[in-house]
Amino acid sequence: MAETVLSTGIRYETLPENYVRPPSDRPRLSEVVSEHIPLIDLGRSDTLQIIHEIGKACESHGFFQKMARIAKEFFDMPLEEKMRFYSDDPSKKMRLSTSFNVKKEKVHNWRDYLRLHCYPLEEFVHEWPSPPSAFKDVVSTYCTEVRQLGFKLLELISESLGLERDYMEKVLGKQGQHMAINYYPPCPEPELTYGLPGHTDPNTITILLQDQHVAGLQVQRNGKWVAVDPHPNALVVNIGDQLQALSNGRYKSVWHRAVVNSNKERISIASFLCPANDAVIGPANPLTKEVSPAIYRNFTYDEYYKKFWSRNLDEEHCLELFRR
Ligand code: OGA
Ligand code: NI
Repeated sequence: MAETVLSTGIRYETLPENYVRPPSDRPRLSEVVSEHIPLIDLGRSDTLQIIHEIGKACESHGFFQKMARIAKEFFDMPLEEKMRFYSDDPSKKMRLSTSFNVKKEKVHNWRDYLRLHCYPLEEFVHEWPSPPSAFKDVVSTYCTEVRQLGFKLLELISESLGLERDYMEKVLGKQGQHMAINYYPPCPEPELTYGLPGHTDPNTITILLQDQHVAGLQVQRNGKWVAVDPHPNALVVNIGDQLQALSNGRYKSVWHRAVVNSNKERISIASFLCPANDAVIGPANPLTKEVSPAIYRNFTYDEYYKKFWSRNLDEEHCLELFRR
């Protein structure tokens, strides 16, 4: 594949052959169902002051809209301007890329993405794109708020498992934060390809700001693909592989995928909270009694992450390789 992205400004009339999935591995869009996805109103959860405040901030400052707009501004820039950031090396701390792992995969995905490391901010922000002139500012603010929300969610999740409130925080160490700004151009043959094929996220939790107008995210539930339609001012929270391991399989890292459509571009912004590289992950001790012995071995996040990026996205669940 040529070293370029899809977002060139030129609309494709046909789907290039190296994006076409074999018939057994196509999205079968007519079989996708619609089910109720629980919605939590942060602005109303007045028992949890911080959550309430985050909820208010999200609502009042056009905070999501700003982030979405700056993402679009980036992908709308001329190709030469964007290509300065291009790399297919997953170890780069900031890069524009396309598909998923272009060097490893056989079939490509109908997606471009800008990937940023976001914590500690001061270490990375200076190398972020400019123009767009407001990018550093808007994205920094967004990252900071999302991080707070993520920490709060981790506390609530710890408690929901019957663990100490700060259990996750302690185990996960100094958590990293990455962002993927995903851009899915209109696609001439959406039935033959994916924006992102079914996968689970390798990190702890993912907070996704979906396009507020264009649908594309789907999650797997009971063997069926369920559309997660856009909801104004809502974020999607995904449990990642590390929480599945920590919870000893009680919480499942959700299989999800992004499909594309023929008319409209779609943008989504994924924020990933990740354990420190040297954090030792494994089923939490209090959850591994005789009735439910640990099903995964302990591993460092560094080991897991290297394994994840050495593979193709739509292979079996990476966590399966860490079973005891
Ligand atoms: C991801 C992801 C879904 C989407 O970036 O890991 O699953 O809707 N994105 O873009
Ligand atoms: Ni994902």
